[in-house]
Amino acid sequence: MSTPSASLPGGNRTLGDLSVTRFGYGAMQLAGPCVMGPPADRDGALAVLREAVDLGITHIDTADAYGPHITNQLIREALHPYSDSLHIVTKVGATRDEEGGWPPARTPQDLRRAVQENLENLGLETLDVVNLRLGDAQGPQPGPLAEAFETLVELQQQGLIRHLGVSNATAEQVAEAQAIAPIVCVQNMYNLAHRQDDELIDELAEQGIAYVPFFPLGGFNPLQSSALTAVATRLDATPMSVALAWLLQRSPNILLIPGTSSVAHLHENVAGAGLQLSDDDLAELDKIGR
Ligand SMILES: NC(=O)c1ccc[n+]([C@@H]2O[C@H](COP(=O)([O-])OP(=O)(O)OC[C@H]3O[C@@H](n4cnc5c(N)ncnc54)[C@H](OP(=O)(O)O)[C@@H]3O)[C@@H](O)[C@H]2O)c1
Repeated sequence: MSTPSASLPGGNRTLGDLSVTRFGYGAMQLAGPCVMGPPADRDGALAVLREAVDLGITHIDTADAYGPHITNQLIREALHPYSDSLHIVTKVGATRDEEGGWPPARTPQDLRRAVQENLENLGLETLDVVNLRLGDAQGPQPGPLAEAFETLVELQQQGLIRHLGVSNATAEQVAEAQAIAPIVCVQNMYNLAHRQDDELIDELAEQGIAYVPFFPLGGFNPLQSSALTAVATRLDATPMSVALAWLLQRSPNILLIPGTSSVAHLHENVAGAGLQLSDDDLAELDKIGR
């Protein structure tokens, strides 16, 4: 049974002309260990995806590099044919090597192939949103993006992509992309303890552009902080709930894509993100990443 999306914490927000729930789902954790190969519990992975949609979530974040290909194939198996309200956001610009690394793959040829592979594995004719993933595993790295971004603009003009975004990007790269074509989102690492994009988030909010923090719960290294634990204990909540609620209250243009391979955690996160943090809570949490 689908729960109306209005019941999800944060309500709805737009990505270009697409309406999505601010509480989304990040599918990376569905692949095997180190985001390589199939999941140990395939039925469990399919169940998480179906539960996300049944809860009313209409924003799923993915990439064909997850697995590689595995996560997109799971999404297709669990959810295709997709409801009109569901929007799948993917990214291109990195591939996988045999050691599980994420080498850049941003030549025009790489990007055309990656868009085709995303379309095929997801079973789509048009990708709703494609983020150009920049930088490397260490984070954003300065450097030009024009050739890569213009390739995606060409694919957009051919009807294969509806909207564009950038990921793992510096503020300068965000501006460079915007000088070439409109973007609807920026997906960078950001959470209570990693606040390097505070200024960028506020600038994007003024422009009506979504900011989508990856690793909202700390990613492979779960968030740990005595201040976070103290606030969570006081509110009789989990640190994960406080971290998600803080992001929703941080700025209205923030969309959540927490990852989980567990239906129980998915439920906990949906319930927890609705926690109302007081000004005192926010002030205490604000000190963590400063
Ligand atoms: N653009 C990029 O370069 C980039 C990079 C990384 C990620 N991403 C995207 O961002 C999404 C989110 O990042 P992420 O999934 O890596 O990290 P995350 O959302 O910060 O954290 C996920 C981790 O938290 C655990 N977790 C989730 N809910 C929990 C709960 N209630 N209690 C305890 N543990 C919990 C998960 O384990 P369980 O599975 O056991 O729940 C998983 O290990 C990804 O899925 C991906 O779509 C993008």
